[in-house]
Amino acid sequence: MYCCVLRSFQIKGNKLKHLTRASFSIDHCAHSPVSGSLWQPLTHRTHQPAASHRCVSSRRLPSAFPVIDGAFQPAHRHVYEANLRNSRICQQKYLEHKEKVMKGGGENAIARHTQRNRKVLVRDRLRMLLDDEDYLELSPFAGLGLPYGDIPAAGCLTGIGKINGLWCMFSANDATVKGGTAYPITVKKQLRAQVVAMQNRLPFVYLVDSGGAFLPLQSEIFPDKNHGGRTFYNEAVMSAMKIPQVSVVCGSCTAGGAYVPTMSEEAVIVHRIGTIFLGGPPLVKAATGEEVSPEDLGGARLHSEVSGCVDHFAIAENEAYEYTRNIISTLNYELPEEDDTQVEEPLYSTDDLMGLAPRCYNHSMDVRLIVSRLTDGSRFQEFKARYGTTLLTGFARIEGHQIGIVANNGELTYEASLKGSHFVQLCDQRDIPLIFMQNTAPEPAHTLSQTKAESNTNRLKAQGSMMSAVACASVPKMTVVIGGCHGGDSYAMCGRAFDPNFLFLWPNARVSILAPGHSDAFVQSEEEITQINEMLEEESSAFFSTGRLWDDGVILPQDTRKVLSKCLKIIKQQEYQLSREKMRTPFLRL
Ligand code: COA
Repeated sequence: MYCCVLRSFQIKGNKLKHLTRASFSIDHCAHSPVSGSLWQPLTHRTHQPAASHRCVSSRRLPSAFPVIDGAFQPAHRHVYEANLRNSRICQQKYLEHKEKVMKGGGENAIARHTQRNRKVLVRDRLRMLLDDEDYLELSPFAGLGLPYGDIPAAGCLTGIGKINGLWCMFSANDATVKGGTAYPITVKKQLRAQVVAMQNRLPFVYLVDSGGAFLPLQSEIFPDKNHGGRTFYNEAVMSAMKIPQVSVVCGSCTAGGAYVPTMSEEAVIVHRIGTIFLGGPPLVKAATGEEVSPEDLGGARLHSEVSGCVDHFAIAENEAYEYTRNIISTLNYELPEEDDTQVEEPLYSTDDLMGLAPRCYNHSMDVRLIVSRLTDGSRFQEFKARYGTTLLTGFARIEGHQIGIVANNGELTYEASLKGSHFVQLCDQRDIPLIFMQNTAPEPAHTLSQTKAESNTNRLKAQGSMMSAVACASVPKMTVVIGGCHGGDSYAMCGRAFDPNFLFLWPNARVSILAPGHSDAFVQSEEEITQINEMLEEESSAFFSTGRLWDDGVILPQDTRKVLSKCLKIIKQQEYQLSREKMRTPFLRL
């Protein structure tokens, strides 16, 4: 029931590779409170020794934050059980989505890719490129359930993995999904990956295998600011910011796709597999009547020997990834040694989070129960514990990283908002990353009297202040939507529009302007109320949201600590880049 981390060393090629594998075993059947067998005390891990793994962190001032009492009370039981039932349904949906995404473009497309085109599948490419499989994939369910169909993983995998010990962002086209062509959601996903790389100063590796724009939807990809061209704009800006970018041409780079490797600082191309051209052989034939092979028009030899568009010629795909790993080794980072600080695991099992993930707002329990299952040693130094109690604020550590937590514990009242502003500014002043745990109240307060109007106005002003504090805080911010994400409260709690470095949803989360079932104050007729509530029900699901890329992915509650810890390490890495000063001129290739 607890996380065990195994470490091993493995020699890969001529490199010493450090592998970290985390495995989690969840056994709700044996300990399920639903079965009534092992309730309260079981989940409390008394006398557990501190976990044996170590963290990479600079030495912090010593602390002994108080331990939260995270034990369940008998009164919680029916709420926990209802949440758990709902979470299991949500987890099932999560697993179904995962299965769908793992199949890429389907059997025929996979056969065409591997047998006819002799290419490696995208996940196997990542296996060759990255140190291990312990990478953070972003928005894997983006593209599912869109009006133009299901586009598995939006046709392009993005995420953050280690290459020779350095966290790097990757974006890898999946050519089994319509030849790796870019749908509107693909463009959105690639742009989001670039934004994440910019915000966290992550080196970027592009694995390009794409037929360019998906032509039937060209008007939604081409002309606007955040459409296809933005990718190349970002590439230039990232180079000038000294964010390294490397491309591997492991398939077609057609039309717009051709600029990705040509604007990277270094590019590798695979013989007989990689091609770069603005218009492919069919276009040449249509325009001039000439027959030309892809190799002669824009193959690996041409670009490495004649045009100079690429810098490294790889005879096969595995060689291309070795080149790329070596390129990453040349970057100007100095990573710290692992220190000996022992990490304390929470005293309560993260598996309990399934029963704490609220089915709806009315099924929310004290958010301290959730916090106690995420922080080191279940410790939490609460700030303003007696004021604005519907917002929990305080300091904690996750795998040794100091953080400030801002968590909804009821309505975002006037006092709660003032407290939120104060705490956010405190963290900003002390350079402490913020973690927002969002579960907003479903309904805005109605104005019924003058007194009510005054209190609403005060609340509005206080929320406005909190929004300003959150928007202007220059520390890293991460948001986890653990329940509802509705209306204005969600902005103050660092929703997507407030630019958190990462934003994840639990599968039970609901994202909509109004919570389902709460539209009756806004529409009159029964018919309209039913219609709007049905719409809200469908459109507020976490899967609807993540399919449209309004977040960085759905994560299971029991994985939250692991994901947040990884994000904190990723964010910290920028401190180890030796030279970060912006260049005066953009990076110009030949
Ligand atoms: N727009 C829409 N659909 C496209 C497409 C595009 N630009 N490029 C390819 N497709 C579709 C194909 O119609 C095919 O669909 P299907 O699976 O329903 O039959 C699927 O993607 C795979 O294409 P296919 O040519 O069979 O696969 P391949 O692996 O042999 O070749 C490409 C892939 C990308 C090299 C090749 O399709 C190609 O050259 N496409 C045109 C690229 C182009 O000129 N783009 C310009 C865009 S501005």
